Amino acid sequence: MEPKRVYIVTMGCQMNIYDSEQMERILAAMNYRPTAHVQKADLIILNTCSIREKAEHKVYSYLGRLARMKRKRPDLIIGVGGCVAQQQGYRLIERAPHVDMVFGTFAVKRLSGLIRQVTEQKRQVVDVNQTGTVEPSHIAPSDSQAGRATAFVTIMSGCDNFCSYCVVPYVRGREVSREPRGILEEIQQLVAHGVQEVTLLGQNVNSYGLKNGHGFDFPALLEAVNRIPGLKRLRFTTSHPKDLSDKLIGAFAGLETLAPHMHLPVQCGADRILRRMNRGYTRDDYLAGIEKLRKVRPDIAVTSDVIVGFPGEEEIDFEETLRLVESVGFDNLYTFKYSDRPMTPAARFSRKVGEAVKRERLARLLELQTRMTLEKHRSLVGTTQEVLVEGLSKKMDHQITGRTPCNKVVNFSDGAACVGQLVPVKIVEAFPHSLLGGPVKPGRLYSGYRGGILHAA
Ligand code: 5AD
Ligand code: SF4
Repeated sequence: MEPKRVYIVTMGCQMNIYDSEQMERILAAMNYRPTAHVQKADLIILNTCSIREKAEHKVYSYLGRLARMKRKRPDLIIGVGGCVAQQQGYRLIERAPHVDMVFGTFAVKRLSGLIRQVTEQKRQVVDVNQTGTVEPSHIAPSDSQAGRATAFVTIMSGCDNFCSYCVVPYVRGREVSREPRGILEEIQQLVAHGVQEVTLLGQNVNSYGLKNGHGFDFPALLEAVNRIPGLKRLRFTTSHPKDLSDKLIGAFAGLETLAPHMHLPVQCGADRILRRMNRGYTRDDYLAGIEKLRKVRPDIAVTSDVIVGFPGEEEIDFEETLRLVESVGFDNLYTFKYSDRPMTPAARFSRKVGEAVKRERLARLLELQTRMTLEKHRSLVGTTQEVLVEGLSKKMDHQITGRTPCNKVVNFSDGAACVGQLVPVKIVEAFPHSLLGGPVKPGRLYSGYRGGILHAA
């Protein structure tokens, strides 16, 4: 039977990328194949994010555009999954009546049943039940995962930390860790399909397994993954500074596949605000953690998240953040303007910071970080980096793109590189968001992994 076509739009974090791949695997079993053309789709799924207000607005504007398509083609199925779906439930259908299916973060595994209800019973369905197991229903790689150099593997869901600004504990529920066996099996299958690098995902991977009570904690999981034959690089995200244990820091010394990069969101440099954020560490604790990490792995890249304009943030607090950013010397920083999220304590905090002040602080922070990132990148010019080839650059014509162990993007214009290969590349120029590599072996076509050709010229 002719396959049906699905078009999935993934918004937000890596967790959603993993969930979208899960959806792809489930849909493949229902004879749906992915399409790159929204116009050709029989099923369109928006996998949504609600971490900040802006992300939520994006969902409704996208849905607005789909309304016209649905009027022209009433058979088209429109589904909304992810965090906005979980939070909005029926309200989403009231606001966007052309949506056929609303399924929350817990309902991904029930997707096939929901689609059948839509097609067979010709009715709208909503599933925002907070029930289900953390284990994925399919662990065999999806079509789009096979043949890629890198993959994400979710090792836990939810979060117990309740940072006062954050909606995640409400939309993704309490923290639950997957069993190690399923995780290891999933990674083994990915490696068998050519994946070279795996990133383990969780809201706070440092507390992996602690609630399961079987003594198999995150460092133990890293050790077990490190032993999987054929896996070249291992990464993880996100770590919470309050749970950065010596054992985890030690893993950077002993595990050969573990890439020297740690994403360690600090959020703010002022103790007063960190307390109001309910982060559970001080500025000094954070700095001490970075020092320990660098002692064990001097070349480690450290990246972070910062929120500006948290309720009550004064100019002196913000200046403490600037000073912290300057003294740590992050490799990269993800910066956000605080926005109120429903249900979170901070939404009810007084002394909100005005939009203009937030904008101004964000610009100052970005200016500082861009200068520092560029400095770091410039110090790499002239060095040779081991680059894992990911494919053709989307932004730079005729260029191959990949990443260094420290997770820096390198584009290079020539070489005999295949997807999934590790190649030594000499860095010739530095930009704020990437590095330019010199030619490896000129004048050849890049034969892609498993027979595909990367047309470089
Ligand atoms: N406003 C702004 N940024 C937020 N983040 C989480 N919640 C909010 C919010 N309400 C940021 C944090 C987190 C990142 C994923 O998003 O910095 O680490
Ligand atoms: Fe949100 Fe804090 Fe949990 Fe991160 S640790 S997901 S910021 S509540």
